[in-house]
Amino acid sequence: MMSQPDQTTHFGFRDVPLDDKQTLVNQVFHNVASRYDLMNDLMSLGLHRVWKDIMINALNPPKTDASFALLDVAGGTGDIAFRAAKPASHGFRATVCDINPDMLRVGRERAAAEHLDDRVSFIEGNAEALAFPDRSFDAYTIAFGIRNVPRIDVALGEAFRVLRPGGHFLCLEFSAVDVPGLDRLYDLWSFRLIPPLGRVVTGDAESYQYLVESIRKFPRPDTFAEMIRAAGFSRVSWQSLSGGIVALHSGWRL
Ligand SMILES: C[S@@+](CC[C@H](N)C(=O)[O-])C[C@H]1O[C@@H](n2cnc3c(N)ncnc32)[C@H](O)[C@@H]1O
Repeated sequence: MMSQPDQTTHFGFRDVPLDDKQTLVNQVFHNVASRYDLMNDLMSLGLHRVWKDIMINALNPPKTDASFALLDVAGGTGDIAFRAAKPASHGFRATVCDINPDMLRVGRERAAAEHLDDRVSFIEGNAEALAFPDRSFDAYTIAFGIRNVPRIDVALGEAFRVLRPGGHFLCLEFSAVDVPGLDRLYDLWSFRLIPPLGRVVTGDAESYQYLVESIRKFPRPDTFAEMIRAAGFSRVSWQSLSGGIVALHSGWRL
């Protein structure tokens, strides 16, 4: 869907035309794909693993052989899908959908190396226009992805559409640090350390400058919860993790 020419959005701290944001985001993940997983460990000091495990606990895929279909959108290199697939039963299938072929290539290689390619499949696609039928998944996850999507309300509408009634929506996203002292440390870490680290590890400081800026531009968790409700979800809640560095949002299609 093309938007009006005067519509703008944020790309980090820059205002850009709405229709340009996706191209800029795609360039970021094209640049960093091969070192994306390593950078996640370095810049979060491994904490992203804990946050992702908390998301998988909330997802709670069935331990019986009942069929269960997970759609992991903006799933990148497959981290969420792999974590969900490992403890799940034989009926579990995950589809990783991401707009970036470079991130998906890394994900497919990881799936093969971890012998998970029979339960996890990868498909290129846009969160704003999912190529899946209505009511086709039991759960929809999106981790550190939604703030990169230009039209968040459209992506939330698509999440609602593809979930079956009773389906679970879970979103892990950076949030607003609310612990005095930690906020200053977090600012220093984000703006002084992460872009130079990005330069050393990926050769690209600018992509990581975008990532830290985009975190600050993302709506506060109560505002984002309202957006999830507006998309049609019920029993919407959120949980702050690590002093507000991250929030886990949950909603149900009833
Ligand atoms: C920070 S990574 C998150 C990857 C993975 N979920 C994780 O937690 O490690 C953000 C991902 O969002 C993807 N992305 C950005 N815009 C998208 C869109 N409109 N539709 C689908 N994926 C998108 C990017 O290609 C990238 O792989």
